Formats: sequence, structure tokens, C-alpha cells
Amino acid sequence: MHHYRIVALLMSKNKLYKFGQLATFPNVYQNHRMDDDFVTDYRGEAIDIKGKWDEHHFQNGNPITLELACGGGEYTLGLARMYPNRNFVGIDIKGARIWKGARVAVAESLDNVAFCRMRIDHITKFFTPGEVAEIWITFPDPFLKKERRRLTSPMFIPRYREVLQPGAKINLKTDDPTLYEYTLEIIESENLILEYHNDDIYANELPLPELGIQTFYEAMHLENKKTIKYVRFRLD
Ligand SMILES: C[S@@+](CC[C@H](N)C(=O)[O-])C[C@H]1O[C@@H](n2cnc3c(N)ncnc32)[C@H](O)[C@@H]1O
Repeated sequence: MHHYRIVALLMSKNKLYKFGQLATFPNVYQNHRMDDDFVTDYRGEAIDIKGKWDEHHFQNGNPITLELACGGGEYTLGLARMYPNRNFVGIDIKGARIWKGARVAVAESLDNVAFCRMRIDHITKFFTPGEVAEIWITFPDPFLKKERRRLTSPMFIPRYREVLQPGAKINLKTDDPTLYEYTLEIIESENLILEYHNDDIYANELPLPELGIQTFYEAMHLENKKTIKYVRFRLD
């Protein structure tokens, strides 16, 4: 058998193992089919989670922050450790990545963490107006040729507006200069409120401690000597 076929076989076995385990984690909810407006929990039960994240999962009345494009969920975990009186939901479409973060949260008994495998495009199907207190978008794909798909595009902003509490903050951390500049332009053209921006956060002392949390992708970008950028804005 060719080497690449062996690698492919091992990878898919590994992924299958992760997907199987993912379905058993009590902190994971999955939207298996895009047309469904429910998520499936670890008991295999279909849950209408919209507006019920607290009632169904956290049961503590604390505010909920989302990490969009969470990948392995490093920000979700880091923020949850830093802020035990807040709740965090990591969102990504890739199950094998979410598996990483969910597994750590279970091992560390981080009860203020959940993960949801879904398309960010469908955020309004799973969160009700005012259910979200803050959003972090961490190293999203910059989609250099497809502006519409960027997570700070006018396609996504109205969806965030629908679920966020008034005055809530959106944080973007990226290595990509195009996405950084684009986001600043959108903030201006959509009349959003720019609170803070910095095109090289490590050049000086960090303006807030949570900016020091580093993700899997950030570590790669730092290795490649890229500068890390940060924008914080509000919608109203
Ligand atoms: C470059 S990775 C960054 C992952 C992580 N935040 C990090 O910094 O290591 C971007 C992630 O966004 C996810 N993603 C991109 N578009 C998405 C969408 N529309 N819905 C859900 N996930 C999406 C991908 O699956 C991928 O895991």
C-alpha cells in the first residue's frame, strides 16, 4: 500500500474515533444536518437549544460568550479558566477540532464551557435575541477571494446583532492584514462603534490579559514571525 493511502486510512480512523467520542461528551451539542433546527446532545436526544442554553446546560444564570471558529477551543478554555463566573460556548463546524477542546473541558471539570458543532451562518437558529453577551472570533479563515464568507462581513453582522445583548462587544484576533483592514472598513461603513484596534498586540504590554491566550493557529503564525492583530467593536 502507498504511504499516502496508509496515512489517509490512519487519519480517517483517528477522526472516526474522535467523532465517536465527541458524541458522548456532556458538554457537546451537534447540529448534524444543516436543515435541522435542533442539536443533538450526548444522550442522542434532539434539543431545541435556542434560548435554553442556561436552562438546559449551564443552569447558573451567568452571561454567555461565544467563540466563533473556535477550532480546538483554546480561547474558550482560556477565557473559562480566567472567568469562572461567565459561561463560554465554542462554535465550529469541524468535529475533530472541537473534540480537542471538549475533552480538555471534561478533564478539567470546566462546567462553564460547552461546544456546539454547527455552521456559524446558522447562529440565529440556536441562540435567541439577547442570549449572547459577547463574541470572540479567533483566527478565522480570511477568505481572501470571497469577502461574503468572512466572519466580519455584512452577511454575518446582522446575525450577530440578532443574538447579542445591546452594547455587547465583538472581539477579533487575526494574523491576516487583509481581514484586519477589511473589518475596520466594515466598522466604518456599517456605522459600528470601534472600541480598540491594534495591528501588533505583542509590540507593547497587552491591553487586556485575555489577549495573551494563544490558539493553535496563533502559535503557527507566531512561529512564522507574523504579527497578531486585534479589533474590538460594538454594533450599536
Ligand atoms: C483557521 S481555523 C482557526 C481555529 C482556532 N480559532 C485557532 O485559532 O486555532 C478557522 C476555523 O473556522 C472554522 N469555520 C470557518 N467557517 C466556519 C463557519 N461558517 N461555521 C463554522 N465554522 C467555521 C473552521 O472549521 C476552522 O476550524
